[in-house]
Amino acid sequence: MDKSEDKQLGRRNFMKVAIAGIGGLIGAALGLPAIPYIMGPALQKESDDWIQLGSISKVELNIPTLFKKTIETQTGWINTEEEISAYVLTSNGQDYVVMSNVCTHLACRVRWIPEKDSFFCPCHNGVFAKDGTVVAGPPPRPLDRFESKVEDGVIFIKRG
Ligand code: FES
Repeated sequence: MDKSEDKQLGRRNFMKVAIAGIGGLIGAALGLPAIPYIMGPALQKESDDWIQLGSISKVELNIPTLFKKTIETQTGWINTEEEISAYVLTSNGQDYVVMSNVCTHLACRVRWIPEKDSFFCPCHNGVFAKDGTVVAGPPPRPLDRFESKVEDGVIFIKRG
């Protein structure tokens, strides 16, 4: 092998290394920004334990008031939407009870009937008192309650 062949091989090797290096840089420039996009949802944790229902100013004394809230939950890459409905009741404007509107019999939705001063479940004629206790029908237990808190005039329920 003479000197000119040595130089040729040196240039070839340099070009191989340079091309591989440029390819690597281009790959990193394109690939690195995609990592958080791909991995982010899988690494995301439930961040908010409290669900904001709304202002307590709309809750009148001794009248169960319905709040509806759509919450989005992300588990890995799967997004789900869920509607939560809850009745908020206060007898003194200080302490609040938040009740599920899901009947404890077979999970139909109960409605507050002001004229009857009670909740009514249309599926099997279940009746609940204002505080959620069972008055009549097949429901085996009172309406479920959410853990709740009030901050700056806004009522929150704990995510279940
Ligand atoms: S589901 Fe409500 S009474 Fe049966």
